[in-house]
Parts: sequence; C-alpha cells; structure tokens
Amino acid sequence: MIILIGYMGSGKSTLGKVLASELQKEFFDLDALIEEREQHSIRDIFEKKGEIYFRKLERKVLEELLNKNSDIILSLGGGTPCFGDNTEIIKKASQNVFYLKLSVQELTKRLLKEKEDRPLISHLKSEEALEDFVRKHLFERNFYYLQAHHVLNADAKLPEELAQEITALL
Ligand code: S3P
Repeated sequence: MIILIGYMGSGKSTLGKVLASELQKEFFDLDALIEEREQHSIRDIFEKKGEIYFRKLERKVLEELLNKNSDIILSLGGGTPCFGDNTEIIKKASQNVFYLKLSVQELTKRLLKEKEDRPLISHLKSEEALEDFVRKHLFERNFYYLQAHHVLNADAKLPEELAQEITALL
C-alpha cells in the first residue's frame, strides 16, 4: 500500500491518480470516500456537524481502508496523520508513506485559488493572512508529516515527475 500525506494543496489526490494509473493499482482518496459516505461535502460536514465529528469519521473510514490491507494507492486529507494515533496505524499498514513537501510560499500560492472548499482556511481573506496561517499550521504538523518513510520535495514538480521518483523508491 502506498500512502500519500501532506498539507492541503500539496497535490496528493492528483499524484495518487497518476501513480495509480502508472502502477495499475486501485486509487482511493480519503476525503472523497468520506463525502460519499456522508452524502455531503467536507465543507458541509464541518459547517453542520463540526470538526470533531469530521475527525471521528475520518478515523473510522481510514481504519476501514487500512484494514482491507490491499495493494492500493491512498491519498489522505491534510490533517489525517495529525490526530489521535492515526500516524501509528498508517505506518503499521504501509511501508511506503510519502510526504509531499512544499514550501509555505508555494502552498499559499496554490491555496489562494482553492480555499473556498477548505473549511480550515476559507475565512482567511488576504494572501498575508493565509501565508501566516499556513506557516504556523505547517510548523505544528511537520512533526507528523516527517514521520513518513520518504519525504519528496514537491515544489515546482509535475505529478508525473513525482510519480517517477516514487516508483524508483519502491
Ligand atoms: C484538512 C484537509 C482537507 C480535508 C479537511 C481538513 C486538514 O483535505 O480533509 O478540509 O485538516 O488539513 P486536503 O488536504 O485534501 O485539502
């Protein structure tokens, strides 16, 4: 099982799809599975039921997927490794956890264009406010992200290049 982790906007889902098609494996996106299960968008779940409800659900769906123990490509949500003992169960299930590492500047640039559907950052109006938030948040989350087996420097790289790097490391 190949697991992709990283901050919001780091390109986990896009890379997961490319990788899955190259390696001829099945691809799962944790956020998409949660949305499917709840029949609501992540944004609606946060808004109507709150973050704690979301984190419990995230944990449940994650556990189900990991327990399948099959040879799949899985992209997680940006916060998934950072709650409860999620990192532990992730690393128990896979020897191939990849962290897509991007700079604060690159993440801010990307997220500015796509923050509306992301409840944790949708309220941040200016680029400066978003950059400050990302810097602090990433600092807190790095502890979890850096427990990945492999750290990929993903700034300015195409998903195809990253997929190649991953394949070479398997
Ligand atoms: C979150 C990231 C999102 C989604 C939710 C919370 C986070 O996933 O799970 O909005 O805590 O970083 P993406 O990383 O796919 O945006």
